[in-house]
Amino acid sequence: MLRFCLVFATLLSFGQFADHDTFKDCARVNFCTTLRTRTPENKYSVDSDSVVIDPDGGQLKFDLLDTNGSDNLQVIITRLEGDNFRVQIQEPDSDRYQLQDVLDGELNVLPNDKIVIDPDSYTIVTDGANVTIQFSPFSIEFTTNQGPQLVLDGTRLIFDKNLDKAFAFGVTFPQAYQLYGIHEHADGLALQTTQVGGTDPYRLRNLDVSGYELNSPMSLYGSIPVLYGHGSEATTGIFLHNAAEQWMEITNGEDNTQAYVMVESGALDVFVLLGPTPAEAVRQYVGLTGTAHLPQLWALGYHQSRWNYVSQDDLKDVVANFTTYDFPLDVIWLDIDYTDGKKYFTWDPNAFSDPVEMQQNISASNKRLVTIIDPHIKVEQGYNVYDGALEQDLFVKRADGSNFEGDCWPGLSSYMDFLNPDARDYYSSFYSYDNFPSTTPVLAGIWNDMNEPSVFDNSIEKTLPGDAVHHGGVAHRDIHNIYGLLHTKSTHQGLINRDNNTKRPFILTRSHFAGTQRYSAIWTGDNQAEWGHLSVSYSECLDANLLGIVFCGADVGGFSNNPSEELLQRWYQAGAWLPFYRAHSDSSSQRREPFLFNEDVQAVIRNAIQLRYKHLPVWYTRFYEHTRNRDPIIRPLFYQYPSNVDVYNIGDHLLLGDDILVRAVTESGVESVQVYFPGGTDEHWISISSSDVYEGSGFIDVPVDIQGIPVYYRKGSVIVRKDTLRLSSDEMVGDGHTLHANLDADNKASGTVYLDDNTSFNYVNKEYNYLKIDVDGTDVTLTKIDDDANSDGFDFVIDDVVVNKIIKKPQNGIPGKYETKIYKKTVDGQLLKNLKFKFNDIVTIKLA
Ligand code: NOJ
Repeated sequence: MLRFCLVFATLLSFGQFADHDTFKDCARVNFCTTLRTRTPENKYSVDSDSVVIDPDGGQLKFDLLDTNGSDNLQVIITRLEGDNFRVQIQEPDSDRYQLQDVLDGELNVLPNDKIVIDPDSYTIVTDGANVTIQFSPFSIEFTTNQGPQLVLDGTRLIFDKNLDKAFAFGVTFPQAYQLYGIHEHADGLALQTTQVGGTDPYRLRNLDVSGYELNSPMSLYGSIPVLYGHGSEATTGIFLHNAAEQWMEITNGEDNTQAYVMVESGALDVFVLLGPTPAEAVRQYVGLTGTAHLPQLWALGYHQSRWNYVSQDDLKDVVANFTTYDFPLDVIWLDIDYTDGKKYFTWDPNAFSDPVEMQQNISASNKRLVTIIDPHIKVEQGYNVYDGALEQDLFVKRADGSNFEGDCWPGLSSYMDFLNPDARDYYSSFYSYDNFPSTTPVLAGIWNDMNEPSVFDNSIEKTLPGDAVHHGGVAHRDIHNIYGLLHTKSTHQGLINRDNNTKRPFILTRSHFAGTQRYSAIWTGDNQAEWGHLSVSYSECLDANLLGIVFCGADVGGFSNNPSEELLQRWYQAGAWLPFYRAHSDSSSQRREPFLFNEDVQAVIRNAIQLRYKHLPVWYTRFYEHTRNRDPIIRPLFYQYPSNVDVYNIGDHLLLGDDILVRAVTESGVESVQVYFPGGTDEHWISISSSDVYEGSGFIDVPVDIQGIPVYYRKGSVIVRKDTLRLSSDEMVGDGHTLHANLDADNKASGTVYLDDNTSFNYVNKEYNYLKIDVDGTDVTLTKIDDDANSDGFDFVIDDVVVNKIIKKPQNGIPGKYETKIYKKTVDGQLLKNLKFKFNDIVTIKLA
């Protein structure tokens, strides 16, 4: 027995399998087992007498009859801007919970100008799409110029009173070979096929799964119920606007790509995204749930965290060592132990006896602080946060009406009912400088953790039970997956109020849902110090980027266990190319701040962090462009090269924007790795660490050493960097830029750059400098993109221009060569960095 326990404990400590006793598979969830094995049947037909076109013309409504002529359902199809459609199906007089708080504002409904009425179908005809409602058997078929795209199939539509409020529906993607989406799973980028007897369906139920396993459809901390069906001709998608528990059966395959969606409760409310490209499908989805606002610049720098820096002296030492050992750092983080007994909005009076002095110390080296604030509230009379919430009745209730109490970090805890707007206001008020004592603006952001929410009770899957009750009598099961979203919404409001709307809030959340991007960044939770977890950090964050949550990262080094030095270095190198860049580790792991390693390892990590800082203007510009055009910041290859079937499964490469290609090294002890160069033979990729150039013709074996991972600039791009080395983003503000121009065959290259005050929301009122940069030989032309933007105070300063020119073309997999010339002056002999441009016009600089 002892031996068994030891083996078991060893397996646990190495992770690789989650606690399947606590976290259920489909077979242990009644509605999932029952719905999964239902045989499809032609049960429903449209009652042709019931069809109604509403007065404004944007909606078509009709009833469905089942084979008995009873048990009918109502269907509403709404035409939305951009040729997207919403389909809602429910029982007449339904009391199903209709989700709030997720969509970003009002929907733009368009009239159905043309409806073709046939004896056995109706067709809504728009410029871009036809939507045909077949009467019997019932189905809704969406067709675009590229042919039939998506079918909501009546044969797998199930509303069964014996299953209470559970329902199911099927959707087929006639032109797709591969399904993507449905964050959050520790899985490859492309969704696996699931089937009875094989892989379980993908589950969407936000849970605190520690020690999670890889290549698994198990739920993690967040849920984004968006699926994209992708093929070489077209991409379409669905967004299920529902926050209850869901399971999705996935079938990939040339003629049979489909999903079968099983849902515990709430409404069948589906948005159909008609693409036809991945970029358009993503934009359509993000149009519904909103874009991330621009982060403050510092949030894009490097973050150092650990559970826990044990005292203010410990923390100050860590910050000082970053300076001593010459590592850039923007933010130091405090985990739960800074609080007084896990009572949030307090400080441990012994270990953190002088938080104000500590914050001054942090700020003296131009760094900032982030602290954790969880949503559970310690049950303790005399604790002001608890007392006030109790008095105002702001906690989640049990089914019997008493306040729910369960264990979490502080011991017995109650849970803020964020569905209640009063609770959100109440909670947000604690972020004010007065109510969160000893805080100053150096406390620049907040970390919302454990907000699935986590309850330390395995019998209820470590979260609130489905029959817990929220404001307005809403059952927890109906809103489970938005609990974390509402937590961050309240925190976001708190930070906005605290700083009188002068600063863009920074929040990191573990639990998330569709729309989280409006309030918060995410990270992938408690990963492990293993190579597979490094790899999955790319696929998870790429997936999140396709689903609107662009600000994503993973614990660098892995949260649990201890990475080898090699893995740690590779993780720093790869993590530098994810939008959120933070090292974090478990309290039981060894300390691993970069200055603790030998000089060789330090040098590698320092280079990785410095490379991140050199590209800060790229990151900032891409984040700004996301606010304009909704595009992901990092992109999988299939997104940018949709017709290339060879890249559909590649999840360990990313494109930052469309000009930088990165391949994480996720293998130990390698001297070369396979890099996929996309784009065809005319596309060329310029290595940033050698003079090699590769053509975009597929996999090539590329040599690597520990100094770096493969990173390339696309031929024809201008990459705007800041190459002066500093120790924080604040210290870089006055520095000039280096343009890296990667000339194409016509000696041309182009790019964009965005500058503003790095802090406020004034950019919304067009207070910024946003420029197009065109290089033609040795001429650099800068063009202001928005005539009406006010660029005063945001002059674009260029220190130098690095011109990379291909001198030997790559061919047949053999790399070519490029050479570099650096220009610091104009033809008139003026130093570039002395030029101050007012960009009211087009300016051309002639280099010499
Ligand atoms: C769980 C989080 O995932 C982890 O990052 C954190 O360190 C611990 N909670 C303690 O707060």
